[in-house]
Amino acid sequence: MSRALIVHRREAALGELRDVLKARIPCDTARGIEEAIARCGTTEYDVVVLDHRPPEYDATEVLRAILVAAPNALVILMTTGAEAAQKLDDAAPGKVFRFLGGPDQRWQLPGIVAEGLRLTRMEREQRDLVKKLSLEHGKLQKREKLLDLVVRERTKDLETSYVRLKAANRQALLGLAKAIEAKDPYTKGHCGRVAEYTMAVAIACGYPAAELETLEFASFLHDIGKIGIRDAVLLKPAALEPDEWQHMRIHPVVGDTIASDIEMLKPMRPAIRNHHERWDGTGYPDGMKGLDIPLGARLVCIADAFDAMITDRPYKRAIPYEECLLLLRKNAGKMFDAELVEVFVQNRVGEDYG
Ligand SMILES: [Fe+2]
Repeated sequence: MSRALIVHRREAALGELRDVLKARIPCDTARGIEEAIARCGTTEYDVVVLDHRPPEYDATEVLRAILVAAPNALVILMTTGAEAAQKLDDAAPGKVFRFLGGPDQRWQLPGIVAEGLRLTRMEREQRDLVKKLSLEHGKLQKREKLLDLVVRERTKDLETSYVRLKAANRQALLGLAKAIEAKDPYTKGHCGRVAEYTMAVAIACGYPAAELETLEFASFLHDIGKIGIRDAVLLKPAALEPDEWQHMRIHPVVGDTIASDIEMLKPMRPAIRNHHERWDGTGYPDGMKGLDIPLGARLVCIADAFDAMITDRPYKRAIPYEECLLLLRKNAGKMFDAELVEVFVQNRVGEDYG
């Protein structure tokens, strides 16, 4: 509860002032500055009503002493004359809540005290609010930091998992490619080389970077359908008979069927199914023509044919590099996409083979 201290040298004045204020706020009284300071030492006052005219003291000193003794109190100073009030205000700027004139103005005291207490309460509430808000702000910042840390850790975990998963996928796909090569030892290393040549031409002709990895795997696995080819045909160390060719020609469709059942192989289906299509439409299995043939399939087709030329096969000897390029050019526009063949030749892809 709020409490006021009235300081006046005259007992009668103290009584009058207390009578005026008592309905508004409980009051103590002091008859001099020493008594006032002593009271402030034991009681915390919210309001000090001070008469500035003790004859034995300097008014400014009295005010300063009260401000030190009751630093949180609302000081109302009774003084006559604007000049004296100004002098005191200059001595302690902004510290006196209100100056009041002589006894005839005492009736204003309850209203002034009420207003002062209301302002004090509002200031206190505002201070409390700022304190509370800054506390909440601090808590929020801490929570935000914690959340940030958790998100970062989770992201790191996810990134690690993604990298592991990608590595596992790569291993699985390369394992499949090895399975094809294990079935047909004559084509050992073929899948890897086709992938290498395909990538070189794809990068040189500006193939979409985001799809390069899919193309790389597709070129690795373009012959995955050979798993479904009979050994007698696949491993025959001589040229194939027409019916054997017929059987061999099903491998792109078998490959496509395998890829259609495996989620991570699905994007590779066009390159697997159509790598034996020919530019002039005489290829298989769909007899596609020109730019209708998927770009990945056109790239793999050239790389596949080049590798067949430059390596020994059971039924033929390896062809020298420059002759391979001539053969590619010779078949550009018939078997192969002429523009891609030019990119292959100009970049001398596969020159380091052997
Ligand atoms: Fe093939």
